[in-house]
Amino acid sequence: MEKYLINGGKPLQGEVEISGAKNAAVAIIPAAIMVKGVCRLENLPQISDTDTLLRVLTYMGAVVRTINRSTVEIDCTNVQIDRLPADMWALTRRIRASYYLIGAMLGRFGAARSTMPGGCNFGVRPIDQHIKGLTALGADVNVSGGFIRAAAKSGRLHGARIYLDKVSVGATVNIMIAAATAEGRTVIENVAREPHIVDLANFLNSMGADVRGAGTDVIKIRGVKELHGGTYALIPDQIEAGTYMAAVAAAGGEIRVSNVIPKHLDCISSKLREMNVQIEDGDDYVIVKREGPLRHTNIKTMPYPGFPTDMQPQISAVLCCADGVSIVTEGVWDNRYKYVDELRKMGAQVQVQDRVALIQGVPHLTGATVKACDLRAGAAIVIAGLAAEGATYVEDIRFIERGYQNIVGKLQALGADIQCVDVPDEPEELRDDWIAG
Ligand code: UD1
Repeated sequence: MEKYLINGGKPLQGEVEISGAKNAAVAIIPAAIMVKGVCRLENLPQISDTDTLLRVLTYMGAVVRTINRSTVEIDCTNVQIDRLPADMWALTRRIRASYYLIGAMLGRFGAARSTMPGGCNFGVRPIDQHIKGLTALGADVNVSGGFIRAAAKSGRLHGARIYLDKVSVGATVNIMIAAATAEGRTVIENVAREPHIVDLANFLNSMGADVRGAGTDVIKIRGVKELHGGTYALIPDQIEAGTYMAAVAAAGGEIRVSNVIPKHLDCISSKLREMNVQIEDGDDYVIVKREGPLRHTNIKTMPYPGFPTDMQPQISAVLCCADGVSIVTEGVWDNRYKYVDELRKMGAQVQVQDRVALIQGVPHLTGATVKACDLRAGAAIVIAGLAAEGATYVEDIRFIERGYQNIVGKLQALGADIQCVDVPDEPEELRDDWIAG
C-alpha cells in the first residue's frame, strides 16, 4: 500500500505555487455539458476528482483534449444522456460533485440521471435544497435505488424565484447551472458566496450566460437559449493555499505562497495572525512566517466569508501545537472530527463534544502510523506529521490525492522530508482496526 512517510520537525522554506480551485473545477467541468462547442479550461488542478469528472464526460460523448498540465479542451457538442454505461456510474459514485451532472443535463436536455453523490463523509449530507430548486425550475425530481432522476415537465426548465432554506454551495451551483438556459428569469436568494460560486458564474457568463450577483446573497439569472464555447481560467484554490499556510504555521519557517488571491485568504490569514504567524499580502502571493511559539485561539467555521469548514481539520492540527487551550466549533457539518483519533495517536490532546473540539496544546507531537479519513482530514494529518518529532506514516492517501495536486513534490520543494513509499500491508492480526473489532 502506498503511504506518505514524513520525518517531521523541519522548518519549511521557499515558494509553493497554488493550483486551480478544486471546488470550482468540479462545478465547471459538469457545467461544460451545457456548452455546444469547445470550452478551453486553464488553471485546472491535476487531481483525481477532476480526472474522474473528465472521464465521466468522455463516457457521455464529450471529446477531452489535454493541452498541457493545467489546460484541457472539452467539446460537449455531441454529448448524450441515453445508454450511459455502468462503468460511468461507478465513477460518479466516487465523487460529491456528480450531482452537478443533474443541473447540467437538465439545462441542456430537459432530462437527467445520476447516482447519489459520494465524496467525503461528514455525517448526513442531504440534497433537499437541490431538489427544492430544481423542482421550482419545473423539474420532476425523483430519488430511488441510489439514483437521482429528473425531467423538465414541459421539456424545458423555466425561471423561478427560489429561497434556499440553508446556505448551500452545492444547491447554489446546481440551480445556477440549470437556470442558465431556463426560459425566463430566475432569482435565487440566500445563496452561498464562496469564491468558487463567483468563478462558476464568471465561467457561465464567458460562455454566453447572463448570471448576476454571484458573491452576494442573491443571484439573478436571465436564461439564454444556449451556451457557446470559449476560454476560461479558474481561480486559485483558497483551501490548498490555506493548507500550506497552516503547514508553515505548524512546522515553522518562512514560505511564499504564490498564484493566490490574497482577499480569498483573509478569513484564514486573520486567524493565523492571532496565533502569532506573520503574514504579508502581495498582489498575487502571501508570505507566511512563523518563528516564535504559537498562541491558542478560538475558531468557528461558517459559510464564506467566515472561516471555511474545509480548513477546520488543518487549523486544528496547528492548534494542537499552540500554547494554551483553543476552542474550535464546527458550524457547517455534523461530523467533521473523525481525524481527531488520528491526531491523538500522535500525542494531541483534544476532546470533542458534538460540534465543539477543545484542544489543549502540547509542546510537541510525535510521529505515528495514522490514516487520512477524508480529504482535509488527510491534509491535517500531513501537517501534524511535518510538525511532529520522528517518523509519521500516513495511510489512505487516495483521499488526499482527490484534492491536492502533487502535495509530496510541493512539500519537498519547501524542504520537507516527505516521500511516497510502497509499504507491504501489515498482517491482518496486527492491525489496530482488527484488534478493535
Ligand atoms: C461544498 C464543498 C465542501 C465544503 C462545503 C461547505 C464541493 C464539491 N464541496 O460541499 O468541500 O465543505 O461546500 O463549504 O464544493 N445542506 C442541506 N441541504 C442541502 C444541501 C446542504 O441541509 O440540500 C446542508 C449540509 O448538510 C451542510 C450545509 O448545508 O450542513 C452546507 O452544505 P453545502 O454547502 O451544500 O456543502 P456541499 O456543496 O456538499
